[in-house]
Amino acid sequence: MTSETPATIALVGAGVRGRLGYGDYCLRHPDRVQAVAVAEPDTERRERFAREHAIPVSRRFAGWAELLASDRLAEAVIVATPDQVHAEPAIRALELGYDVLLEKPIAGTPEELGRLLAAAHASEGRLVVAHPLRHAPLFEAIARLVGGGRLGRVMTIDHVENVGYLHFAHSYVRGNWRRTDLASPMILAKACHDLDLIAWLVGSPWRRVASFGSLAHFRRENAPPGAPDRCIDGCPVQSTCPFDSVAFYLRPTTPQAWVGAVTPERTEESIVRALRTGPYGRCVYRSDNDVADHQVTIIDFTDGTTASLTVSAFTAEVTRTIRVMGTHGELRGDLLAGELEIRRFTPGAPGPAEIERISVAGDFHGGGDDRLMDAFVTRLQEGRRGARTSDLDAALEASVVGHVLAFAAEESRLTGAVLRK
Ligand SMILES: NC(=O)c1ccc[n+]([C@@H]2O[C@H](COP(=O)([O-])OP(=O)(O)OC[C@H]3O[C@@H](n4cnc5c(N)ncnc54)[C@H](O)[C@@H]3O)[C@@H](O)[C@H]2O)c1
Repeated sequence: MTSETPATIALVGAGVRGRLGYGDYCLRHPDRVQAVAVAEPDTERRERFAREHAIPVSRRFAGWAELLASDRLAEAVIVATPDQVHAEPAIRALELGYDVLLEKPIAGTPEELGRLLAAAHASEGRLVVAHPLRHAPLFEAIARLVGGGRLGRVMTIDHVENVGYLHFAHSYVRGNWRRTDLASPMILAKACHDLDLIAWLVGSPWRRVASFGSLAHFRRENAPPGAPDRCIDGCPVQSTCPFDSVAFYLRPTTPQAWVGAVTPERTEESIVRALRTGPYGRCVYRSDNDVADHQVTIIDFTDGTTASLTVSAFTAEVTRTIRVMGTHGELRGDLLAGELEIRRFTPGAPGPAEIERISVAGDFHGGGDDRLMDAFVTRLQEGRRGARTSDLDAALEASVVGHVLAFAAEESRLTGAVLRK
């Protein structure tokens, strides 16, 4: 196989992320990468993905274990299964020598993370963590500015993961990430990216972490009087409740990635049926959720840099906002807006002339999803030419720091202790 032919991937988990993210990328870039095998227990999802990518029957599997029972079928495996089905398929794929792009959280416990890293180090294949934000133009630009010393020495980072009230209700009250036992703690599921970004920008090991937060609002005792179990069943506050599922899922502008989780068909009839019977029609105060709806984490790094991460359901926009405060300047960024503002400290008060504004591509992940796949496919092609970079272990260790911090933060939140490395 030459470097000109498309790279090949086997997809494990053809759900929202697998099909609409990675699968869609393959369809848009057929000259660079092709999906040649799929593992998915849901027959409808598996067959639809196989049809879209012209995958023969012999390469369609009911689960990751079946796909990974045979010899290698592709150059790489992309694991986009539910949170608790990540490490095992990745370890098996690494044992077979596949390159692996693994969705976060890449492991559910520190022990599992250790086994995964050992498998990666023992494998000929590479393990790449799906951290799209590292590839978002906003954070790439911030890393360049920080690394280039534009702010002097970084002293403090103040990062906010604005989950958005509707996004939170969808994923963390009604949806797949609502319970720790079904998925993972919110700080791991939602904010391992943010903790990764913070650690990446600081570039020094952390030494202490503390975290506070709880599930305070989306609880039974906060349900409005008379609210039924489902919004669609004549809720007396439906017209004013910001979390009303009917208005949200029937709205034509609600992203397909969200409606696709509710029902495979985007028709009014199908959505209404799902809201009457499925998890996404539930009153946000009467679900079976237990993950925190707001959490603040503070981190002390060995070089003296301090950082805070706020993750909150209670924001109007779905965005990440960051302030980086250095000895010679301050920077503010907004991922959704694609805005970056740098103020260098000057003698006297800074006027408008000293403020530099940079516009970058902005959306939920700031364009990072496609750029992550671009980078992964490029690495596969480099591998064919034997030109792989040799810093895999260092890169991998760095890309799991966010997970280690998330484990520590959750332990701190639950125990009240300050965790030391
Ligand atoms: N990196 C990011 O920014 C980002 C963004 C969104 C989601 N994610 C992660 O991606 C993962 C998938 O999320 P999603 O929204 O697509 O969920 P999803 O439930 O829509 O898709 C997961 C799919 O995996 C399938 N599956 C379950 N067990 C399987 C098995 N044994 N073998 C093969 N497939 C199996 C399910 O049937 C389902 O279709 C989650 O872990 C999520 O946290 C990451």
